Amino acid sequence: MDIADQLRQLDADADRLISVAGSLDAVEQLRVKYLGKKGALTAILRSLKDLTADHKRDIGAQANQLKERIEALIGRRRDDLSLAGRQADAVDFTLPGRPCHYGHRHLITLVMDQIIDIFQRMGFEVVSGPDIETDYYNFGALNFPPDHPARDEQDTFYVEGERLLRTHTSPVQIREFERRTPPVKIIAPGRVFRHEAINTRSHCVFHQIEGFYVDTDVTFADLKGVLEAFVYELFGPGVAMRYRPSFFPFTEPSAEVDIRCILCGGAGCPLCKHEGWLEILGCGMIDPTVFRNVNYDSEKVSGYAFGIGIDRMAMLRYRVNDIRLLYENDIRFIRQFR
Ligand code: PHE
Repeated sequence: MDIADQLRQLDADADRLISVAGSLDAVEQLRVKYLGKKGALTAILRSLKDLTADHKRDIGAQANQLKERIEALIGRRRDDLSLAGRQADAVDFTLPGRPCHYGHRHLITLVMDQIIDIFQRMGFEVVSGPDIETDYYNFGALNFPPDHPARDEQDTFYVEGERLLRTHTSPVQIREFERRTPPVKIIAPGRVFRHEAINTRSHCVFHQIEGFYVDTDVTFADLKGVLEAFVYELFGPGVAMRYRPSFFPFTEPSAEVDIRCILCGGAGCPLCKHEGWLEILGCGMIDPTVFRNVNYDSEKVSGYAFGIGIDRMAMLRYRVNDIRLLYENDIRFIRQFR
């Protein structure tokens, strides 16, 4: 084979092989094969020196053209391969979407929001107070005597010194009275803590909504009106309610409100401990001692307060029979209530 044939052969080979090289490495191997120090074309270029002058010019020009052609082929193939690489990394807009998991509110929050909404429509403003309280706000200012059993470590989680985890939302009354003058019409939702044994009906963490209204001439009838509107709105107008006389150091008179058991309709079942009634809140007319503690004129103003247990409401509303389910965050349970 003379040199011209060799060049033609090389040209055809290179064209075919380079255009299908599968990777940048394969392209590099082909470059070495043709253009490397020991490459086929390099060998031909080197052998030109043995040719006659005329021949050298002719073949030399052909060999150099082929060298340029091969370099161009290699360059183009490299570009194609690295573009393909970049496209492999890029976003493929034809892929099906990944499923997106929606979150939702916890059933306590759902009930809380429903109750807040009902009271907001009756003109109550929403505020919140701290979870960590002092003895004064949680007990003292609310007229708990120094030796009241609720202060006992049996009931109260003490943090350090005077600080404790609030055992009810009533301290928000004191905080708001201290910084406002009547009329004051507020609800204060939040978490409360009691050192209690955990069982189906009680937990050491739970939720309350405190409500209070202070103005001139606020009466127990106003309290009843607001509570009835609330119960009928949340459970429907057919639900029977009853007031039982009770005692709280910061209200006088005091009452607890029961509703007819949602589960058994009053016939008696484990939820209502076979009594047919469920306690849902404590309430009363604010004691004049509380007004004196916050420098309100107890001769001029009067007011009511109530504290609703939210967890119990959530359990009734969604027919949950164990309070612990509300706090275990088992997603299979929580997902059922959206
Ligand atoms: N704070 C009381 C409790 O936790 C409830 C309550 C609030 C009673 C307001 C009367 C008035 O039991």
